[in-house]
Amino acid sequence: MQPQINAQTLIDTAKMLVAGNKGLLAMDESNPTCNKRFALLGIPQTKELRRAYRELILTTPGLGEYISGVILYDETIHQQQQDGTSFLKTITNGGIIPGIKVDIGAKEMAGYPGEKITEGLDGLRDRLKEYFQMGARFAKWRAVIAIGNGIPSRGCIESNAQALARYAALCQEAGLVPVVEPEVLMDGDHSLDQCYEVTESVLRTVFNHLDSQRVMLEGMILKPNMVLPGLTYPKQETVDEVADATVTCLLRSVPAAVPGIAFLSGGQSGQLASARLNAMNLRFKSRLPWALAFSFARAIQQPALEIWQGNDANVLAAQQALLHRAQCNWEARRCEYSGEWRVGEQGSGGVGEYLNSFIHPPVAQNSAGILTPDS
Ligand code: G3H
Repeated sequence: MQPQINAQTLIDTAKMLVAGNKGLLAMDESNPTCNKRFALLGIPQTKELRRAYRELILTTPGLGEYISGVILYDETIHQQQQDGTSFLKTITNGGIIPGIKVDIGAKEMAGYPGEKITEGLDGLRDRLKEYFQMGARFAKWRAVIAIGNGIPSRGCIESNAQALARYAALCQEAGLVPVVEPEVLMDGDHSLDQCYEVTESVLRTVFNHLDSQRVMLEGMILKPNMVLPGLTYPKQETVDEVADATVTCLLRSVPAAVPGIAFLSGGQSGQLASARLNAMNLRFKSRLPWALAFSFARAIQQPALEIWQGNDANVLAAQQALLHRAQCNWEARRCEYSGEWRVGEQGSGGVGEYLNSFIHPPVAQNSAGILTPDS
């Protein structure tokens, strides 16, 4: 039977996902991705250890103080704690909203060498119905866009944007808030300017398709990349420059009706991801139409995974590390993250000077058209 959903429920859920300066914890790695991360640390790649790791995350005391929603993978949503409590119960008992990744992965795109199209639309309506009945209240679909020689192509951007929009429409029909994730990858030797251009073009295309598919913007969350130089590009901009480029790009391409933008981390260190989120909120908060939040996987989980190593004796220490990174990002939303980024990454001036300089500044535009706080 079709669930009785009204628009207000979707709007309320979307607002809750970005309320209280909290954000999302993505723990929806597919089995191959989770296994790859385990293998790098010498952790055996078994179903039981994947379950134990997810139990470690979900039973972290206090997680719900900083995390509004967790994104699960299909294997995980069906699992339980060792004591038999279902993970879904653990999540809701902790005051957290359960979500689910529903795409089935980015596959090589026929006719477009080097580019990918995300699959999973076939049968999606039925899967969404099932996840809703289990208790999920939001979903995630990730499209990946690579920057390289002659790519991304218009064909790749349009196809992925259309799939994202069709997924989002089906989610809303099923009563799930769609988290729409078009990720422009950090891999490569492109500049920040190239990432800016591609990200802006992708986001505009995604919102055109969301409009065509009649997706209610008030009942969705956008999960984009930050605007960053490629990992191997020689010039790595400062935290402030990244913040300015990212917010400029979003202000020009994301409608104000969207309640929240929750960034992916994409391979940045936890510290840098928090510092950049902090700078965006610090420099622009007073003029942003949407909440600027986080939906990180690696930038929250990585230190905990490295401490855990698959060993029960390390669970408490790993949970502390996980909670710490979740708290750092909560602080970043409040413009209070004064954390551990390296000198030189935060632009000129010391951290104290940096923090004191930009309280609700007016905003100007520099010669490159990038918005900057005019303090
Ligand atoms: O789809 C990707 C994840 O939800 C976010 O992962 O923060 O490690 O990029 P990440």
